[in-house]
Amino acid sequence: MASKRSTAEATGASTAAGSATDTPMGPTGRPYHGFPTPPKLDGHGPARIISLCNQKGGVGKTTTTINLAAGLASYGRRVLAVDFDPQGALSAGLGVQTHETATIYDLLLDPKRDPNEVIVTTSVDGLDILPANIDLSAAEVHLVNEVARETILARVLRKVAGDYDVILIDCQPSLGLLTVNALTASHGVLIPLECEFFALRGVALLIETIDKVRDRLNPAIQLDGVLATMYDPRTLHSREVLERVVDAFGDDVLETVIGRTVKFPDASVAGVPITKFAPEHSAAQAYLRLARELVARGAVA
Ligand SMILES: Nc1ncnc2c1ncn2[C@@H]1O[C@H](COP(=O)(O)OP(=O)(O)OP(=O)(O)O)[C@@H](O)[C@H]1O
Ligand SMILES: [Mg+2]
Repeated sequence: MASKRSTAEATGASTAAGSATDTPMGPTGRPYHGFPTPPKLDGHGPARIISLCNQKGGVGKTTTTINLAAGLASYGRRVLAVDFDPQGALSAGLGVQTHETATIYDLLLDPKRDPNEVIVTTSVDGLDILPANIDLSAAEVHLVNEVARETILARVLRKVAGDYDVILIDCQPSLGLLTVNALTASHGVLIPLECEFFALRGVALLIETIDKVRDRLNPAIQLDGVLATMYDPRTLHSREVLERVVDAFGDDVLETVIGRTVKFPDASVAGVPITKFAPEHSAAQAYLRLARELVARGAVA
């Protein structure tokens, strides 16, 4: 594991001038903690379910699901990643073939079907996946006339929640019925935001959707955090966007910030998490730190 100091440098943290402890300041303007290695668990489950959600495309939802899942698994957590996007990028990114196999879509359509028949193990110890493929794009049309159509995923996941410590749902970039199902099934939401122009555009609508789900379907849902992704400490623009995100969300912005690097697309092509593809890379270390931060915040056991 990289030292606290070198990790801080990799994400553009700087040492607070004149501070008594010389604690490095993180890119979000707060002291940069390393977060302790999560304690071993005595047993597993029931899972806390977290949706990775942002209707804006390409902000790092899938990349975060893959690498956070792998990070938590490396700390001994049993993790189920749910591909809830018909593009199937999560399945592909974890090296899972989805052509002519059973997928999450089959579980949504047939409530009697056992999810364990569809869950696939990955090359990462402790990390399983419920895969998806393009079939899922038909789900909204099929489910729209179902009774309690918003709670279908919750009922599927309830059957396996006892086997896992955490379930991460990779949402598609939309606020339609599938995403509402994901939010209804979840204890928490993680919002990845790309440090780019218009990062905050549409976030108000996302928060409004979460509030509506809390009001009408799932009173317990919490905002687990806002994760800044694709941060480039060398550009003023990236720093300014992060500043605005912190202004808007305060302490809900996670201290861990994911830097921009081509290692992510490279790892996706290889079909493995970056923690396996380039374990020493600062980006792999950042996702391990994110896993530790979420355990420290109590979002994950
Ligand atoms: N920190 C990063 N640095 C550089 N590239 C990244 C980073 N995170 C993700 N990417 C790349 O950006 C693209 C979009 O990322 P990703 O697929 O994770 O976003 P998404 O929010 O899931 O997108 P979609 O909304 O289409 O599902 C991918 O090609 C991915 O490899
Ligand atoms: Mg995605």
